[in-house]
Amino acid sequence: MERTLTIIKPDSMEASNAGNILALLEKEGFEIQALKRMRLSEAQAQRFYEVHRERPFYDSLVAYMTSGPIIAAALAREDAVPQLRKVMGATDPASADEGTIRALYGSSIERNAIHGSDSPENAQKELHFFFSRAELIAAE
Ligand code: CMP
Repeated sequence: MERTLTIIKPDSMEASNAGNILALLEKEGFEIQALKRMRLSEAQAQRFYEVHRERPFYDSLVAYMTSGPIIAAALAREDAVPQLRKVMGATDPASADEGTIRALYGSSIERNAIHGSDSPENAQKELHFFFSRAELIAAE
């Protein structure tokens, strides 16, 4: 089984949508193997989104991702990475397919409800950003 990382973002937490989102993911066949609620520091958010550092939305993204708590979760299922991207929907909720998490719960291209890893390689990196080796091994 493949693993991927999701982040339930501050807008979802603020709107009390975390439970609905986790329930939807379970219904789509994802097993929640590790779960952590936390508030990212500025340095952590900057590091997590390092690849976007040169993008015009970077500072605003960091401010948003540190504006309140998040939940990070390790999700497992067959083809977890592409399957999460499918159920998550397009980055901009306005162009996300009906029934996807971002269409249901996102409110703008920035406040788009959740994050999902975009490749198996990044999934590994992102899982290790939030969870220790021991936590990931224990979750198997
Ligand atoms: P995410 O999939 O977590 O990856 C980068 C994040 O930057 C994205 O979701 C949005 O929350 C945010 N963002 C804000 N503006 C843009 C934009 N114009 N294009 C892509 N991502 C954006």
